[in-house]
Amino acid sequence: MTEIGRVQFSGKTAFILSAAASAVGLGNIWRFPTIAANDGGGAFLLVYIAITMTFGAVMMITEIALGRRSRKTPEGAYSGLDKRGSLLGKVTVLVPVLIMPYYCVVGGWILGYLAAFAMNMDMTASTAFGEFAASYYSLAAFLIFVVLVAYVIYKGVNKGIERVNKIFMPAFLIMLVLLTIYIIAQPGTGAGLSYYLGFDLSKITPDLFLDALGQTFYSLSLAMAIMVTYGSYMKRQENIERTVYSVTIIDTIAAFLAGLFIIPAVFTQFSGDIPSGPGLIFVALPSIFDSMPFGEFIGFVFFAVVLIAAITSAISIAEAVVASMKDMFQITRNRALALFMIYTVVFGSIVCLGFGPLSSMSIFGMTMFDLLDFATNNLLMPLVAIGMCIFVGHLVGTKVIKEEVSQSSEFKTYRFYSLMIKWVCPIFVGVILVSGLGLI
Ligand code: PHE
Repeated sequence: MTEIGRVQFSGKTAFILSAAASAVGLGNIWRFPTIAANDGGGAFLLVYIAITMTFGAVMMITEIALGRRSRKTPEGAYSGLDKRGSLLGKVTVLVPVLIMPYYCVVGGWILGYLAAFAMNMDMTASTAFGEFAASYYSLAAFLIFVVLVAYVIYKGVNKGIERVNKIFMPAFLIMLVLLTIYIIAQPGTGAGLSYYLGFDLSKITPDLFLDALGQTFYSLSLAMAIMVTYGSYMKRQENIERTVYSVTIIDTIAAFLAGLFIIPAVFTQFSGDIPSGPGLIFVALPSIFDSMPFGEFIGFVFFAVVLIAAITSAISIAEAVVASMKDMFQITRNRALALFMIYTVVFGSIVCLGFGPLSSMSIFGMTMFDLLDFATNNLLMPLVAIGMCIFVGHLVGTKVIKEEVSQSSEFKTYRFYSLMIKWVCPIFVGVILVSGLGLI
């Protein structure tokens, strides 16, 4: 059944898997393991879980409730409560707009590596990645990735997004578990395992808290317009609290498992700093897999896992933008999709070529890639999140959220929620902002 003509996710599982598929992304694979290892393994894990289940969950409950209450994307969801929310809504949508081009460039690299492993190509030379990123193959792969994402959005929320996620998320988790078991069964992984899981209380430092906060925030796809948009497709009888805990648990399990095989694998060859980001998945890991039995196949499975993580997150950013454009400009979904894809192809190509023919181009001394990453992660997302906490906690009041969550069942953690969103969350996000800008 639809309400005022808005599409809805077909049920609880479809919603949870789709929100989890958005949350489980590159952040879980190329950031979490390295942060966890550098910040003391077990100690970090504990703090991370505590922060995710409190701070992270409260922020996600807020976004989903605002979306479901209004049946609108951020601009409409916020301005419907108070006119001053309109600007906040617009800035929120800017985040996925800016993320999309470079996320798709990475998606193209992943596709390229998947193809290379499928064809038994040797990607172990330290220069292999640089050469691939600089070549026109990476541009072609980027375009294919964009077309795949566009096709899913074109098929719509039910026949596209939820169908893909219902297949891919279980497949992702199964492959991840098998990969983890295989890799930690390899000789020499014990040292990395005990490093990752070892518990050292002395490692609990302010930096560890900062890292856990920032990672939770990015990993749960908060302040990206995504959860508000997905919330606008959620049925009223669904239990928001329980859904949010399911999503955070799946996201945390995925991150934990990624660390469980990546850190021991990396430990077999690295002694110093553990790499993260592209250096980890495109440079360090391919040569590590190569030294294992069935290395080609392991590399292939690994990039299949990474591809699912990336493409399902890219789908969620694209949906957030397309739905927002449709709501804000009163245009059809297909027109919004076409416009956004043209934009993505143009800007993504510039980002992609920045690693090759356009490599001399820089803005404020950063590549386009780094600039977009910095502007969204370190600046816009924390600003949007603080804005949302103040908007809900102090302008329109937490009752709005209470009413919406109570549609399905009693809001059990409301008192805690209210305290968090009014005071604790904005302070936490403020700390993320200040540290992200390099001020502390
Ligand atoms: N949670 C995602 C991740 O870990 C963040 C993200 C979502 C990034 C959607 C881009 C698009 O990668």
